[in-house]
Amino acid sequence: MGKDVIIACDFPTKEATLEFLDKFTGKKPFVKIGMELFYGAGPEIVKEIKARGHKIFLDLKLHDIPNTVKSAMAVLAKLDVDMCNVHASGTKAMMEAALEGLTREDGSRPLLIAVTQLTSTSQERMQDELLINEDLDKVVIKYAQNTRDAGLDGVVCSPLEAGKIHESCGENFLTITPGVRFADAAKDDQVRITTPEGAKKIGSDYIVVGRPITQAEDPVAAYERCCREFIG
Ligand code: C5P
Repeated sequence: MGKDVIIACDFPTKEATLEFLDKFTGKKPFVKIGMELFYGAGPEIVKEIKARGHKIFLDLKLHDIPNTVKSAMAVLAKLDVDMCNVHASGTKAMMEAALEGLTREDGSRPLLIAVTQLTSTSQERMQDELLINEDLDKVVIKYAQNTRDAGLDGVVCSPLEAGKIHESCGENFLTITPGVRFADAAKDDQVRITTPEGAKKIGSDYIVVGRPITQAEDPVAAYERCCREFIG
């Protein structure tokens, strides 16, 4: 499984997204499409970006009863996305159903990864509101192990957690990590960050990079720099 840089296309409209992607005339980057764009522009946006030669991580974070997730995943498999995701808190049964729904008749399927605990959930809120009393770090590792046991390919995590997750779930279990910033740039609202080179050293398999590329004066140059530092 090759390491790659995934650009988070956090644009509000189809037009803004395609205008951004038009800049990439050489290598077509792997892109992440989130809820805002998917719900606004519909499945057509996925087909259009695929037709332009990009790989797509469709970041919809499914979480429902197993049967519903299974049916929804079958629809996403038909859309020919390359990676999609669920919440690990939906349980192993839900993740197994997701995998089943995603697997096409010929046995092929997109990569399936899970979100452990959202990085917006603090230790305090997890305890007070979700009544989970374990340490957040321990919860993240346990959810990653559940994800691996259900047969999924990996998890989204902080680059600073990637090493520990590989230790407990195996080297081949994928870590997809946002929170990446160039050494000489703004952190924006990200807190636990690392550079593309740092993510490579820690062992991330894919880095998800948004604003350092989308808001750069020269997005193509920023993307190429990211690839050089992360992939080499
Ligand atoms: O602009 P930036 O590089 O911060 O974008 C990171 C992307 O990764 C955004 O789409 C954000 O929603 C997503 N993400 C994140 N942290 C997580 C999970 C997803 O930043 N824990």
